[in-house]
Parts: sequence; structure tokens; C-alpha cells
Amino acid sequence: MRIFLDTASMDEIRAGVRLGVVSGVTTNPSLMARESGVDFGETIRAICDLVRGPVSAEVTAPDAEGMVAQAREIARWSEYVVVKVPITAEGLAAISVLADEGIPTNATLIFSANQALLAALAGAAYVSPFVGRLDDINHDGMQVVVETAEIFERHDLDTQIIAASIRHPLHVTQAALAGAHIATVPYKVLMQMIQHPLTDRGIERFLADWAKFIG
Ligand code: G3P
Repeated sequence: MRIFLDTASMDEIRAGVRLGVVSGVTTNPSLMARESGVDFGETIRAICDLVRGPVSAEVTAPDAEGMVAQAREIARWSEYVVVKVPITAEGLAAISVLADEGIPTNATLIFSANQALLAALAGAAYVSPFVGRLDDINHDGMQVVVETAEIFERHDLDTQIIAASIRHPLHVTQAALAGAHIATVPYKVLMQMIQHPLTDRGIERFLADWAKFIG
């Protein structure tokens, strides 16, 4: 199980990498739009240099030919780049062309195990089930991760599952138990994963006792 950061913020990525637990990054057009005034290519290159692990950058063309053209350009930016492609019929066609060319893809906007299965069969290196967005509409988002993990395991598919749209630390634990290979988490959730009130109280007590001990 690995942890990726779901952000395009260099500050957050720097802080996450410093902890030694972040081995990749995922971005999307909405996350890029939060970083005002930055260049897409330069930002992705800088993130790749910092993380030295898989960094997802998303295509925006609606058709397979456009997606493939954008993906070829994005793939030139760094050896660490993974091209994020939405799971549509056009996206599947693009993923299969890119797989033949050796360009790794991350099939995104996955909301069912069938979509994940098709993306894996087309040759996606990663699939990203969006857990939180399903929870938002009163569906059990984690069930898609559970089913996808079972299908991939049973049928020997080596596509990796990135549990995405993670909203809180419990999602990460559940994704790990379900067999997701990776959870991509907002920086805030990474920080929440570290926190425990008993850890804080324990430190306070140790420091108070230590102060007594040294007089
Ligand atoms: O990177 C894609 C995914 O994690 C988006 O999350 O919170 O916008 O549903 P969210």
C-alpha cells in the first residue's frame, strides 16, 4: 500500500515528501486550476523532479485522437509522468493506443467495477475509483474498490488500484484493507492520519514528567 498526494500545490508536495511517506502525486484539471498563474507542463515537471515517483497529469480532449496527441506531449515532460484519461469509450480507445506505445495511463472518473475492468483490459497501468463522490450521492464508494480488488486478484490483472476522491482518514484504512495498491489523499487528510489525541496527551505527560525528573 502506497500513499500519493492528490494536489498540484508544490508547497503541499514538498511538505508531504519531507515526511518520507509520499511516493507519487495525482493532479486533475480542477486541482491545477487552484494553482493560479502556473504553467501546466512546468508544474508537472517540477512535481516529478521532487517526487521521483508516478505523477498523474490529465488530458482534456474529448476524442481518442486528441487524447493520444495530448498524452504523447505530456509523456515527454518526464519519465515519471502517468497520463490520466477519463473512462469513456474514447478514453478506452486512447488507453489502448497509449499502452501499445508504452505510455502509462491512469483511468480516472471510475465509478463502477465494470469501468475498472474495461480500463484494465485496455491496458491502463492504474485505475482510480472515486470513493468520496459516490459517498456524496448516498452510494458506498468503497464497495467499488472492494469489487475491483477482488476482480483484479481473481483474474490476475496487474493494473494497480488508486483509491481516489478520499475525504477522511477512515477511507484510507478501508482502502488499504480492501486491497487498493494506493490511496491518493489531499494534504489535509495526510495530516489527519498522523493525528491522535492520545499521542498529544502522551507527549505532554512525558515532557511534564521529564521536567520534574531533571528538576
Ligand atoms: O484526483 C481525483 C480525485 O481524487 C478527486 O477528488 O475530492 O474532487 O472528489 P474529489
